[in-house]
Amino acid sequence: MTDDASADQPGPWHTAIIMDGNGRWAKSRGRPRSFGHKRGVETVRRIVEDAGELGVRYLTLFSFSTENWNRPADEVGALFELLKHYVEADLEGLAKRGVRIRIIGRRDNLGADLVAIIDRAEARTRDNTDFHLTIAFNYGGRDEIVRACQAIAREAAAGELDADALDEAAIAGHLDTAALPDVDLMIRTSGEQRISNFLLWQAAYAELVFLDVLWPDFSREDLARAIKTYHQRSRRYGGVDVGAA
Ligand code: IPE
Ligand code: IPE
Ligand code: MG
Repeated sequence: MTDDASADQPGPWHTAIIMDGNGRWAKSRGRPRSFGHKRGVETVRRIVEDAGELGVRYLTLFSFSTENWNRPADEVGALFELLKHYVEADLEGLAKRGVRIRIIGRRDNLGADLVAIIDRAEARTRDNTDFHLTIAFNYGGRDEIVRACQAIAREAAAGELDADALDEAAIAGHLDTAALPDVDLMIRTSGEQRISNFLLWQAAYAELVFLDVLWPDFSREDLARAIKTYHQRSRRYGGVDVGAA
């Protein structure tokens, strides 16, 4: 396959994408923002396929942030409906292709119908290991850290956890992403260059790639380009390059 980043280089094992620009894409066509979100779901369908073929094993997509509640109610409603339809329509196909689905984010302020759909998708795919699709919905990195701290504090108060034994692994283990590896590559579309509260802990040493393409237009070639950029980076984790003087 000619557009593969490299057949002999691993990964990026875990790629996270801030799917941005649906609203601008729709506006430039004189259409409502929800039209852009709808087209954005089509991009999700394509990219889940492409990512696996390009060497990604864990794909985490930012689909609704804890701050996106600040949008007009009709847009919030449209985004909720799209998630429900996507999971319901694609669950069986994804499950059969070996995809494990996880939805991360706050659950306590979601409707019971949506929570049931999420639970069903996670349960149906829990034995799959070929590819890990995680959708961050009603997700905020700070909110996730707060919820982890609450759980840790409860365990400490119950005498189940010693404060001195608390380490990075214990905190990571209390996050929604406990079962996922750290992020290797974080991509944001639409030209904005910020994290917007996505995977704050997990992306501590992620390579960041910002692309000028709006999410509905994001293609396999764009993903391959981002992966190629990732392979050209030197990940030092605070150390020095191997072989450096
Ligand atoms: C990304 O597109 C989708 C969500 C944040 C839900 P936007 O809706 O943010 O599109 P822009 O940034 O306004 O163009
Ligand atoms: C980040 O995009 C959230 C998602 C992609 C779901 P936003 O469009 O909400 O981020 P800001 O407001 O531009 O930072
Ligand atoms: Mg945006």
